[in-house]
Amino acid sequence: MTSLTQFSLEGRVALVTGASSGIGLALAKGLSSAGAKIVAVARRADRLEDLVREIEGEGGAAIAAQADVTDLHAVEHAFDVAEKAFGIVDTAISNAGISVARNFLKIEPAERDAVLDTNIRGVWNVGQTAARRMVGAGREGSIVNIASVLGLGAQPGLASYCASKGAVIQLTRSMALDLIKHGIRVNAVAPGWFNTEMNQEFFDSQAGKDYIQRMPARRLGELEELIGPVLLLASAAGSFMNGSVVVVDGALNALVA
Ligand SMILES: NC(=O)c1ccc[n+]([C@@H]2O[C@H](COP(=O)([O-])OP(=O)(O)OC[C@H]3O[C@@H](n4cnc5c(N)ncnc54)[C@H](OP(=O)(O)O)[C@@H]3O)[C@@H](O)[C@H]2O)c1
Repeated sequence: MTSLTQFSLEGRVALVTGASSGIGLALAKGLSSAGAKIVAVARRADRLEDLVREIEGEGGAAIAAQADVTDLHAVEHAFDVAEKAFGIVDTAISNAGISVARNFLKIEPAERDAVLDTNIRGVWNVGQTAARRMVGAGREGSIVNIASVLGLGAQPGLASYCASKGAVIQLTRSMALDLIKHGIRVNAVAPGWFNTEMNQEFFDSQAGKDYIQRMPARRLGELEELIGPVLLLASAAGSFMNGSVVVVDGALNALVA
């Protein structure tokens, strides 16, 4: 295997959650261009169908599997759809996530629970389903959980989000330890700031533009800049990477401001 072919996902089946927009959409396209068959998961089915058409138009293979990641039965069904179309999922990218910005004194229980449910329970549901099915089929594989720099440090007004992403990092490490004997690697990516539906309003505002100028890189990340790091973790190129957290943030996490 040459150094570049190690990054190939030829013959692999990659399920990507949150593939209807932002980072998940970019990752689904990126993993497809590396050779994986893509199972695109999210709640907005129309957007998933658009993505499937785009991937197929470029010669790739993809299928949409609508699911709410907080619902274990829906997640199981998405894996059933995947297996019927392409076989066992050996690459799972848990990317679906939401955020609520509100001061700790004011956050409502329902807002907190929505964030914790999506960001923790969702990653749990997808990771456990993927791992159980890989083990059941005697297949090795890779799971990549999308955390955040806010799993490593915190910002005001984001308590539930920061807590959830810290939990994703610890869940990643625990999963890695429990699954290593089955040949399943589990790693996390901690992105810095990328312009997506989640934060577009802020980064388009003057306060957001001022904030960007205070960041070490003085720019947001481009979505495509996450493809290489995820590909490294998903592919044979990262075969000894397990339980790690790869920070992709233009030195944001390195800064003590
Ligand atoms: N953008 C950033 O700067 C940044 C930084 C660090 C980490 N992240 C993380 O990156 C991930 C992707 O976020 P993004 O920035 O790309 O935001 P986004 O554009 O808002 O995408 C979020 C995705 O998650 C899906 N989703 C949300 N709740 C879901 C649920 N219950 N079931 C299934 N899918 C669900 C959404 O699809 P549907 O609404 O169609 O279900 C959407 O595809 C998140 O985990 C986020 O925390 C983002």
